Amino acid sequence: MPAVPTPSVSHQVPIELGDRSYPISIGSGLLADPATWAAVPAASQALIVTNVTVAPLYAQQLRDALTRRHKTIHIVALPDGEEHKTWQTLNLIFDALLQNAADRKTVLYALGGGVVGDMTGFAAASYMRGVPFVQVPTTLLAQVDSSVGGKTAINHPLGKNMIGAFYQPQLVVCDLDTLTTLPARELSAGLAEVIKYGPIADMDLLAWLEANIEQLMARDTAALAHAVKRSCEIKAWVVGQDEREAGLRAILNFGHTFGHAIEAGMGYGQWLHGEAVGCGMVMALHLSKALGLVDTAFVERVTALVRKAGLPTVGPQLGADRYLELMQVDKKAEGGEIKFVVIDRPGHASVRPAPDAIVREVIERCCVPG
Ligand code: NAD
Ligand code: GLY
Repeated sequence: MPAVPTPSVSHQVPIELGDRSYPISIGSGLLADPATWAAVPAASQALIVTNVTVAPLYAQQLRDALTRRHKTIHIVALPDGEEHKTWQTLNLIFDALLQNAADRKTVLYALGGGVVGDMTGFAAASYMRGVPFVQVPTTLLAQVDSSVGGKTAINHPLGKNMIGAFYQPQLVVCDLDTLTTLPARELSAGLAEVIKYGPIADMDLLAWLEANIEQLMARDTAALAHAVKRSCEIKAWVVGQDEREAGLRAILNFGHTFGHAIEAGMGYGQWLHGEAVGCGMVMALHLSKALGLVDTAFVERVTALVRKAGLPTVGPQLGADRYLELMQVDKKAEGGEIKFVVIDRPGHASVRPAPDAIVREVIERCCVPG
């Protein structure tokens, strides 16, 4: 039998949402430790939702650790990839639940990256009008962002994450050991969402990232633990004030308006979500500068960090018309008017429309044929 690593929770970050509050556990060796799961609601059945890539790596470990909590534990492995974040794939989760006669106490475990997490959350929100679920994020991106805060969704060919629900998990468990098997490109994609928190909320984090980007790229556990903890703290602070994105929460979409256009315009799965966000942040910074909000030095500073994280800083040349068309299908758009998250001043963001001519100029400047 393989040795079970000694668990070490380095951090617990609370998400304060009244009766929907829950903790985020961050550390090493958490997945295989039955104690990690002691607070999950008791239920005779559980369904681990994962994908064909993550299942052989971690599903058995999780299943073994859960045997004290649940009598029956099923596993469903979805196809892997953003292009599978669809109704058809979502239905595979409902098939597994119904084929196993899952009752309304059944606990769903989302074991994987943001795609698995978003789909499992949506399935949990809608199966029997709501069953409990737990997020077990195994990508950096999911640990620092998507597993926290209760946004769940699938894509539509006409727009990303356009169909979904707000539905909070019971617990989030970020086992840093899972990041050891993550492909380098995916690690970089996760760093985009970590970098995001700097310009919008925390200039100390930005400076820390500049000083520690090599350690993060080398997967130093202490550096990753700090990046995950600080990211979750900032997200917890934002979500605690604005769970359903009536206002403030939209700042977490810094880089996402341009980024979603890149993802949809190139075809889901061509650019990773984090890559599109990285490049989208550079474009949003150029927009902020064009609006007279930040200076060139700040744009260059953040762009340099995005580049060092192994992310693209130049967008694909879809054409300004196509970008504008795609950006109109954005949850922040109102009455056809596109809203952008801009940096007002270093460490602070706001959401506002921008003149078409300026947006077109930014797109022309930031994109190349490709
Ligand atoms: P992903 O879920 O596609 O995972 C990336 C890749 O890594 C996949 O191929 C996956 O199988 C693989 N993988 C996962 N864990 C692994 C591991 N430990 N070892 C080896 N391979 C592993 O992508 P992602 O970047 O995690 O998430 C992106 C998705 O998250 C997008 O759909 C995006 O819209 C969504 N998202 C949601 C929120 C939210 O608030 N709900 C926030 C940000 C992003
Ligand atoms: N990732 C953006 C949000 O959770 O609001």
